[in-house]
Amino acid sequence: MARVRMLLDCDPGLDDAIALLIAAHLTDLVGITTVNGNVGIDHTTHNALAIAQVAQLDVPIHRGAARPYVNEPIDAAYVHGATGLGSVEVPDVTGTVVSDDAAGFIVESARSIADLELVAVGPLTNIADAVTADPDLRGRLGGFTIMGGAAVGGNTTATSEFNIWADPEAADVVFRTMAPFTMVGLDVTHQVLLGPAERDRMRAAATPASLLAADLLDYAVARAGELRGSAGAPIHDACAVLAVTHPHLFAGTDHPVEVELTGTHTRGMTVVDARPMAETDRPIHVLRDADSAAAIDVIVESVLALGSS
Ligand code: BDR
Ligand code: CA
Repeated sequence: MARVRMLLDCDPGLDDAIALLIAAHLTDLVGITTVNGNVGIDHTTHNALAIAQVAQLDVPIHRGAARPYVNEPIDAAYVHGATGLGSVEVPDVTGTVVSDDAAGFIVESARSIADLELVAVGPLTNIADAVTADPDLRGRLGGFTIMGGAAVGGNTTATSEFNIWADPEAADVVFRTMAPFTMVGLDVTHQVLLGPAERDRMRAAATPASLLAADLLDYAVARAGELRGSAGAPIHDACAVLAVTHPHLFAGTDHPVEVELTGTHTRGMTVVDARPMAETDRPIHVLRDADSAAAIDVIVESVLALGSS
């Protein structure tokens, strides 16, 4: 079967970095675009270049939006560390970005690459810019998947997940114009927790990619223990890659979804209308369940396979 051609829009980020590593193994990655999010755009772009280098990925990397549409930039350094990669040291970066026009690259790639799978695992600023530049963007893609939102609850506020909360106006543009698409939200990513056992498997393999992933996981697991009281860390963004390459590991349902922009306590919430009678001409496929054990295994095996061939 032909490998999926994927473009990954990301804000590395510990879990973005692991998503990049597994996408390098599981897909034909056609490019990486970066966005302000977990940390500022300089760090997310530097981190994408560093991860691609370790993964020996020869793909174009384009820098994107440095700030959200309306919000002041708000980061998640309390989860990912000041640089976005925890305390992990990456090699000196030798590559450089191709351009500062991530949205232009997304538009051009969708036009020139058949059946492109666009996967966005950061705030949706670049995607909103891209669909504003080309209103036919969604129709040109094979598929579109985001890590963001939740049918129930949040991780940044009581109601809101980080990627949507960081740039709700951009998310609103995307939810209005890019359906149908798959929403990989906290409902499933909180089911896929990697812990010390997975870290040890990665460390034992001792490849450059597996050692990097083990270090990333070490930091993520420690922070998850402190912040969530859990023994493992959700590797949210890797789930979005898997939802494309291994859709049978997930189950979901289609719903109307709106992004809350004005609620005093609910800004950035993805309001999923799960009433049976709810109708929409722009359905969002909201993932609800994951085969956690199988998903965790694919993530670990993909990291181990990278660089061992
Ligand atoms: C999302 O927010 C970021 O901190 C992670 O990288 C992930 O994309 C989870 O809410
Ligand atoms: Ca991310």
